[in-house]
Amino acid sequence: MTERIAVYPGSFDPITNGHLDIIERARGLCDRLILAVLVNTEKQPLFSVEERIALIGDNVATGNGARVEVREFSGLLVEFAQSVGARMIVRGLRAMSDFEYEFQMALMNRRLAPRVETVFLMAKEEYSYVSSRLVKEVARLGGDVSALTPPGVARALRRTFTPS
Ligand code: PNS
Repeated sequence: MTERIAVYPGSFDPITNGHLDIIERARGLCDRLILAVLVNTEKQPLFSVEERIALIGDNVATGNGARVEVREFSGLLVEFAQSVGARMIVRGLRAMSDFEYEFQMALMNRRLAPRVETVFLMAKEEYSYVSSRLVKEVARLGGDVSALTPPGVARALRRTFTPS
């Protein structure tokens, strides 16, 4: 039987509990789930790609369903997806505000690679307002984000934003 391979792409700068929730849901839909971490040269991430991959680390090692691998990628997402044999791109949808950007990306990706489907999954309502951007902003201003991220991420944010 052909292995169902899915790619869940993102900046993951840093990974949040919302991402983890999407990962758990996606695991039930494929045999192999590849988290594709964008190297992003344009977006100036807070954490380097190596740090972002390390922060994802153990959080995705266990659990039911598909095995999860973490890889970095640059260039076109659909090219990466095709290079690993994936037929499915997973994206999380939160509020309507995500929709326009996601819709455009999904249709552009479909134009580039018609055989690769984008599948949208909804995270738990309690994470519907959680984004890496807001988590970083709150942490930078000294707020507590420990309920919204894995513990290692909350620690890394504290280290990053605590004046030495
Ligand atoms: O978590 P993010 O930052 O919303 O993820 C965005 C991501 C990585 C999915 C998107 O920027 C992407 O796919 N970048 C790769 C470049 C690409 O393929 N661009 C054309 C997509 S329409």
